[in-house]
Amino acid sequence: MQATAQAQPNIALVKYWGKRDQSRNLPAVPSLSITLDTLWTQTRVAFEPGLEADRFSLNGNAEPAHLARVSATLDRLRELAGCGHSAVVESVNNFPTNAGLASSASGFAALVTAGCAALGLEFGPGQRSRLARLASGSAARSIFGGFVEMPLDPHNDDLAMSLLEAAAWPLQVVVAVTSRAEKPTGSRAGMLQSAASADFYPAWVETTPRDFQQARAAVLGRDFSRLSEISEHSCLKMHAVMLSARPGLVYWNSATVDCLHRIRELRRRGNAVFFTVDAGPQIKAVCLPEHRDHTARALAEIPGVLEVISSGLGAGAQLLPAIP
Ligand code: PMV
Repeated sequence: MQATAQAQPNIALVKYWGKRDQSRNLPAVPSLSITLDTLWTQTRVAFEPGLEADRFSLNGNAEPAHLARVSATLDRLRELAGCGHSAVVESVNNFPTNAGLASSASGFAALVTAGCAALGLEFGPGQRSRLARLASGSAARSIFGGFVEMPLDPHNDDLAMSLLEAAAWPLQVVVAVTSRAEKPTGSRAGMLQSAASADFYPAWVETTPRDFQQARAAVLGRDFSRLSEISEHSCLKMHAVMLSARPGLVYWNSATVDCLHRIRELRRRGNAVFFTVDAGPQIKAVCLPEHRDHTARALAEIPGVLEVISSGLGAGAQLLPAIP
């Protein structure tokens, strides 16, 4: 009754921000993402008869603050499998947690994949994606690799699905880490605050389906400059919504802003690169492979950039033999 799985974070190019149904965790807008390959979460789940309660550790440390969300996910799996045992969950991240690097996406995709296997639930990616979505909207996308879309489906619970395999358009991502601190407002609370108080929220919900359709077409047509334009627009529009909440949510620091300007300057000088930023201060530069090293060097020079991590596009969540 135990299994280990690995999943990679994904970076949204058309962002998800806001929910249309809290209880089923259904997004208010469609989203489109790329799954990475260098950053990962590995999670071992072991259901143990006689264990009194679930236990969760991250990078070797007990994490009581995250236990409730982990247990709620396991409860759904236990119900489907008709199993009453508590579990030991051991997770390892090779990147900063809860700092806007999509650790909840890789974390819950790995947890659902390992948990289903440990309970003998032979679910395909679609079913695992729905289960992951209940824990974290973005986790639904990390079940799949490459380019992933999550359209809104009014007749059914939304489902993430593969749009294009990673090998079909092997973009690169350079992540500039500008802080290793946990973000002050998690995405769940930030979304609630935005929906309840941000003047720009209705415009966000109204216009994102158009951005999604345009980004989808740009990916299928391998049109990098069109994708750059739409992705930067979606990112800046999401942050405009956050800034227009009361109180305003400011996830950026000064290095985030300096990186953003630097990436635009690189593009003006002929590099195929654009930026995106999630609910945290890290900046992600998405580029064509031939412009990756130059982009990474340029971002590493910026004061306040602590580390630069380069990644290609990777596969979806997978079972592993065991944590190495
Ligand atoms: O799924 P959550 O709760 O981790 O929220 C993700 C929100 C963003 O990362 C800001 C955007 C996205 O689509 O991933």
